[in-house]
Amino acid sequence: MMRNWGSDFFGQLNGLPKEPLNIIASVLEAMRTQRTFRLARRELIADLRGLIMSPGGEVKILEAGCGTGASLPDIAELIPSASLYGVDYTRHFIELAEERARSLGFSRATYVQGDIRSLDVWGGAFDAAICDKLLLHVGPPEVVAGAMARAVKSGGLVGAIEWYPNFLLSTSKPSYLASFNEIFRKAVYNINAASNLERILRSAGLSIVGSKTYVAEAKSLDEEPFWRSFIVNQAPLFIHAGLISEAEAREIIADIEEINERGEFHGSFIVRSSIGMKKPI
Ligand SMILES: C[S@@+](CC[C@H](N)C(=O)[O-])C[C@H]1O[C@@H](n2cnc3c(N)ncnc32)[C@H](O)[C@@H]1O
Repeated sequence: MMRNWGSDFFGQLNGLPKEPLNIIASVLEAMRTQRTFRLARRELIADLRGLIMSPGGEVKILEAGCGTGASLPDIAELIPSASLYGVDYTRHFIELAEERARSLGFSRATYVQGDIRSLDVWGGAFDAAICDKLLLHVGPPEVVAGAMARAVKSGGLVGAIEWYPNFLLSTSKPSYLASFNEIFRKAVYNINAASNLERILRSAGLSIVGSKTYVAEAKSLDEEPFWRSFIVNQAPLFIHAGLISEAEAREIIADIEEINERGEFHGSFIVRSSIGMKKPI
């Protein structure tokens, strides 16, 4: 049954030294603060708050692929009565998530290292389960969604956020943009996760409550940390992983930088979210 399980580099980080892991953590941090990712996350949490049956009492939330605890500040602010149980496969990220909870003084966050697909010990204990930028990297996504659906109560909610890593970027040659987007097509496990959120949640027996689609955009590489961090600073990781040659990466980045300096930069991509409900018995 586990034979078709798979993942991309995000499921294989445990063997890496701390230095590259901290670079990846800093990119995740730049993604956390990117305003559209942030808006999608905050709206998902607020929508879940509105749908949860007993918002007055303790609200138990599971986060699959919680990474470094990016969601915690928003959950703590928007659902102050939440208890958060985060699961992530990467040990170092769990340590960073615990550090974040300590520095926020939030004591009802528990972070555990494990594979969400096989951790099945909480049977129906949660009011909601969420994942943010996980379905892109781990599969089959239906197995991930199934684990999340089993974790929530009858009438409980499963919320997923995903993005489509296929950028619109101003470049002087079409081939530059095609080569840049090819990096993600080759690198990620499930490139079409964002366009299939409803199908993935339904496959886990959930009924769709609602979905949202957002466009993230910027007029400068330096408008917010995400753009330079994701497009320029990650290049050595892409080159090291054999996703693009150094010469080609340099040429593309030089072109984008030049366009940016002229004030002609445009970058955009799509982010989606969807909420499913476990049928009340
Ligand atoms: C792109 S990161 C997103 C992290 C976080 N949700 C965020 O928004 O910053 C994907 C995360 O999935 C985790 N991951 C990969 N495979 C996993 C699995 N099988 N079970 C749980 N987490 C997994 C990785 O360790 C990584 O932290």
